[in-house]
Order: sequence, then structure tokens, then C-alpha cells
Amino acid sequence: MKTIVCEEPNRLAMKETEKPEAAPGEALIRIRRIGICGTDLHAYRGNQPYFVYPRVLGHELAGEVIEIGANAQGLKAGDTVAVIPYLECGECVACRSGKPNCCVKMSVLGVHQDGGMREYMTVPAEHLLSAEGLGYDQTAIVECFSIGAHAVRRAQIVPGEFALVIGAGPIGLGVMKFAKLAGARVIALDINEERLQYCKEWAPADYIVNAKENPLQQIADMTGGDYPTAVFDATGNAKSMEGAVQYVSHGGRLVYVGLVKSDIAFSDPEFHKREMSIISSRNATRADFEHVLDSLRGGRIDTSSFITHRAGFDEMIDAYESWLKPETGVIKAVVEL
Ligand SMILES: NC(=O)c1ccc[n+]([C@@H]2O[C@H](COP(=O)([O-])OP(=O)(O)OC[C@H]3O[C@@H](n4cnc5c(N)ncnc54)[C@H](O)[C@@H]3O)[C@@H](O)[C@H]2O)c1
Ligand SMILES: [Zn+2]
Ligand SMILES: [Zn+2]
Repeated sequence: MKTIVCEEPNRLAMKETEKPEAAPGEALIRIRRIGICGTDLHAYRGNQPYFVYPRVLGHELAGEVIEIGANAQGLKAGDTVAVIPYLECGECVACRSGKPNCCVKMSVLGVHQDGGMREYMTVPAEHLLSAEGLGYDQTAIVECFSIGAHAVRRAQIVPGEFALVIGAGPIGLGVMKFAKLAGARVIALDINEERLQYCKEWAPADYIVNAKENPLQQIADMTGGDYPTAVFDATGNAKSMEGAVQYVSHGGRLVYVGLVKSDIAFSDPEFHKREMSIISSRNATRADFEHVLDSLRGGRIDTSSFITHRAGFDEMIDAYESWLKPETGVIKAVVEL
């Protein structure tokens, strides 16, 4: 079977590899779509310091079940499935408290171990979800949206409250969508005007703010001087994360969905006077995946504009470089098999 391997930074290669065999408890799936995300692009560029090469990338996966044993979900050959790519240890303190998404020994398919840029792969059956009723394209975006759904759940949104989402990349767009579905009034903040315009049709955001145009004053005006009670940072930018504190209402909460590999600092008086909660959000749980699948099945998310670029498996390596360039207007690229 064909496998695309990231052999070292900036080098992807098509290889012929052995078709895997499912061990007990695993399913063999045929990969049908692979969503490409920032993590894949960073790994390719070589700016994921902990990354080990060679590595098969790909963690946003839509598959077709080829072989599966008896399983709790009643999945069978031919079913369309989404994959929960976060493999947990099942024993650590987080796993024991029902939070496998932040397992101490987390191993993510396509990051810490080989992922889905191949025709077939084996996955623990309990890491599959039925995507019955959905197409492969929609199924391939479930993981990306689950990140947003989890962050919104972490914030415990109350209908009618103002939620500010900083960063309108694929992750922030997912946060906006699920904050809207939870009943929030969404303000989108970014430095990229094109992405802000898209937020108006996508979530749709109730307000957009360009970070270059006195955002603090604009957001104060939008919220009647209160500021948003929930703020999400999905930029992956340390300065933005530090500055996010100033947008939070007194008594509000700040959720860091985006992450950076550095320290961040902010003024304790600014933090303390608000009695604010700062929450991180990591990965997603099965409940978040189910929520995304239900929302897609219920027609509450129109995904047609979200996938902006696509390529066949054989064309992927040539197309990949262009997906790294923001000027191509890429939001989500998917690979078809
Ligand atoms: N919580 C998780 O488990 C999880 C999972 C996947 C990705 N992430 C993280 O989420 C973050 C976002 O991912 P993405 O793929 O959407 O990234 P992206 O780069 O596509 O989007 C980031 C957006 O933030 C905007 N931005 C950057 N600096 C800004 C600033 N100072 N003010 C306002 N806007 C600014 C950019 O213009 C861009 O639109 C990354 O840090 C990524 O690592 C987290
Ligand atoms: Zn991803
Ligand atoms: Zn664990």
C-alpha cells in the first residue's frame, strides 16, 4: 500500500509499505480523507521541537471500516468512521478522572506515533466513532471542530453572554461556531481582514474587530462597557495570549485554546482585580466528538465553505507547499483517497 512519510523537515516521500494487520481490539480502516492542520504544517517545516522523524503525519481522519471484531458500538465493515487520534494510557490520574484528553502519557496519532497519511491503518476500535449519515469530507473535519467544542464546554457558556474569540484560524472558527450554538453573542478578533469577513458568514460572528483598530475601545463599546464574560485565545501567539487578559470582564474567564512553546506573563493586578479564571483546553473527549457529529447531522454546521483546498493522495506532496501559504486563502485542505 502507499504511505506518505515525512522523512525529515521539508521532505515528504511516497513509499510502498506493508498493509497493517489488526491486533485484537483494533480495527483495520481504509483512509478516505485526511484533513491537514497547523500541526502537520509545523511538523513538516521542522518547528515542532519534540518531533521525531521519519513520521507518518495525519490525525484528522475519515475512514471506512474494513475489518473489526465484536465492539461496544456495533461498528461493522463498510461503516464510515471518525477517529479520536489521542491515545491515552488509561491509568494515569487524568485518565482515572475521566479526562483522557490530557493523559500524562498522551500519544497522538500522526504526532507522537504514525498517523493516517496511508491507504490503510489500524486503530483501537474504541477510538472510532460512527459517522453514519455524514460524508467523508464532513467526517474529516470532526477532529478539528472537536477542539473548539471542547474549549466551549470548558468555558460553560451561558446563553446570551458575550464570547470573544481571538484568532480566526480553523481552531478559532470552530470555537466561534460552537460558542454560537451554545447561545453566545460572538465577537471575532483577528489581524487578518479576509478571515474576519469570513467569520461574518461562518459562525456567523455577531461582531468582527480588527486587532489593528483600537480593539479594546471597540469591544468595550460592543458590550456596553462590560467586556466579554468569556474570552478564548486561539492564535498560537504569546503576545496575544498575554494581552487577552485585558478583554475579560470582571468575574469572567479566559480559555487558552491556542498554545505556545514559551512562557507567558501578565500583570497580576489586571488578573486579580477581575477574579478571573484562566483555563487551558487540550484536545477533546469522546463526548465532544459526539457533540460535533450530532451538530453536523442536525445540519447546524454548513461545512461547504470550510474546505478551501483539496488534492488526491498522489498529488498531495506537490500541493502541500501551497497549503503553507496564507495568501492562498487556505482554511482547511483535505486529501482524498
Ligand atoms: N487545544 C488544542 O488541543 C489544540 C489543538 C490544535 C491546535 N491548537 C492550537 O490552536 C492555535 C490555532 O491553530 P490554527 O490552526 O487555527 O492556527 P492559524 O495560524 O491558522 O490561526 C491563527 C489565527 O490567529 C490570528 N492571529 C495571530 N496573532 C494574532 C494577534 N496578535 N491578534 C489577533 N489575531 C492574531 C492569525 O491571523 C490567524 O488567523 C495554535 O496555537 C494551535 O497549536 C490547539
Ligand atoms: Zn489538528
Ligand atoms: Zn493516562
